Amino acid sequence: MPRIKSPHLLVAESGADRAGHGLRRTMGLFQLICFGIGAIVGTGIFVGLSDSVAQAGPAVVVSFVLAAITCVFTALAFAELGGAIPVSGSSYSFAYAGLGESTAFLVGWCLLLEYGISISAVAVGWSQYVNELLHSLTGLQLPHALSAGPGDGGVVNLPAVIVIAMAAVLLVRGVRESARATAAMAAVKLIILVAFCAIGFSAFKDGNLVPFSPAGLGGIGAGTTAAFFSYIGFDAITTAGEEAKNPRRDIPVAVLVCMGVVTLLYCAVALAAIGAIGGDQVAGRPAALSYVVNQVTGSTIGGGVIAFGAVVAIASVVLAVMYGQTRILMSMSRDGLIPRVFEKVSPKTATPVAGTLIVAAVFALPAAFASLDAVMNLCTIGTLAIMAVVNIAVIALRRREPALARTFRVPLYPVVPLLGVGFCLYLMYETGWTTWIQFAVFLAVGLLVYLGYGRRNSTLALVKSDTVTPDATDAVLQEA
Ligand code: ALA
Repeated sequence: MPRIKSPHLLVAESGADRAGHGLRRTMGLFQLICFGIGAIVGTGIFVGLSDSVAQAGPAVVVSFVLAAITCVFTALAFAELGGAIPVSGSSYSFAYAGLGESTAFLVGWCLLLEYGISISAVAVGWSQYVNELLHSLTGLQLPHALSAGPGDGGVVNLPAVIVIAMAAVLLVRGVRESARATAAMAAVKLIILVAFCAIGFSAFKDGNLVPFSPAGLGGIGAGTTAAFFSYIGFDAITTAGEEAKNPRRDIPVAVLVCMGVVTLLYCAVALAAIGAIGGDQVAGRPAALSYVVNQVTGSTIGGGVIAFGAVVAIASVVLAVMYGQTRILMSMSRDGLIPRVFEKVSPKTATPVAGTLIVAAVFALPAAFASLDAVMNLCTIGTLAIMAVVNIAVIALRRREPALARTFRVPLYPVVPLLGVGFCLYLMYETGWTTWIQFAVFLAVGLLVYLGYGRRNSTLALVKSDTVTPDATDAVLQEA
C-alpha cells in the first residue's frame, strides 16, 4: 500500500514549522499574478528564443503555442489542486495526497531539477545580458574568464553567482519585501517586452516569415521542447499556498491569468523579432532581442534598454524560483523526508533562512561552472515528468477524495488531464536519449536517497492521516 497523506492533514500541518514559527499570509491576487509573471518570463524568451528559432525557424510561433498548450492542460491541473490543497509543497504535496510518499519524494527530487537547476540555468542567462548591458553603457565587457563557466570556455561565471546571492538576501529579509520587488520587476519586464513588440512590428516584413517552417515538423517539435523552458515557473504560484491571503480563490485565478498573458506575449515577441529581421538573423544569436532592436533603430540605445529589461526580468525569475524551491523543501522537511534544517522559520523575518542560504549556496555551484545548454534539457525533462504526475494526481484525487472542496475544477475531466499527460510524454520523448539517460540516473539516485533516508524518517508513519477532518482543514484556512 502506498503511504498517502490526506489533503486535510497537509493543510492542517501547514503554515508553520514544528517550533510554531509561522509564515505570514501577505500575498493578494495582484501579488500572486506578479509573482507568477516574475517566475515565468526570463531566460527562456530573452536568451532561449534564438535557440528555438534555430530549430523551428518562423514556425517557432507554432512551437510556442504547442508548448503553451502542454502547459495550459497542466496549469488547469495546478489550478484545481492549488485551490484544493493550498500548501507550500505544490506538486510534491499534490503527489503525496494523490499517489503516495515514494512518488511524492521523486517529484520533490525532480523539483530540484525544475527549480534548483533552473535557478542555475537562469542565472547563467542573466550573465549574458549583464555583459550586453555593460557593453551598451560603457563599451566594456567583463572578461570572458569571469563571465562564463568552463563548459563555455571561461573559468567562473561571477555574475550568475552574484544574482543568486542577491536573491537569497532579499528572500531572507521577508516575503513582503520579496513580493514588492517581484511586482516591480514584473512590471518592468512587461513594459519592455511590449515596447520590443512595438519596435519589431514597426519593421515587420511578410517576406521574413518565408520559408515558414524550414525544418518541417521535426523542427517544430524540437522548437517546442526548447520553447517549453520559457513557460516553466507558472506552477511556482502554487508554492505560495501558505502565504496567500485567500489561496482557495486566488491561486487558481493567478495560474490561469499568468498563462494567458505569457502565451500571448511570447507569440508576439517571436513574431516581432522574426518579422523584423528574419529567422536566420535571430537563430542562435546571443542577446538576440537587443540585436533586433539595434538593427531596427540603427542605434545601440534601444538594445541597451532591452538588455536592462532582460537583466531585471531574469533576476526576478531567480528570485521567484528560489522562493518556490525553499517552500517545497520546507514542506518535504516538515514531512520528515529531508533533514529538518529546511523547515525552520526565523521568528524575526518569518522566512526559512537556513533553507534559503543552503539553496543559494548549492545552486550557485552549477551556475558558476556549468553551461546553460548542459543543464536546460535536464531541467525540461524533470519539469515535464512532474507535470505528468500532477495531471495524474488530479485523477487520483477525484477518485480518492471526491468531497474535497475544489474552488476550481479541470474542465472536460478526465480528457483534459489525460491530454496533459500525453503532451508531457511527447515533449519528454523529444528531449532525446542522452537526456533520458541522465534523467534515469538522476531518478535512480533519488530512489536510493528515499529508501536510505526519507522512508525511515517520514513523519507520516507517526500520524493517523485520516484523523484530520475537512472541518479542521477549513478551520486552518479561516484562521488565516
Ligand atoms: N521560464 C523561466 C525562464 O524562462 C525559467 O527564465
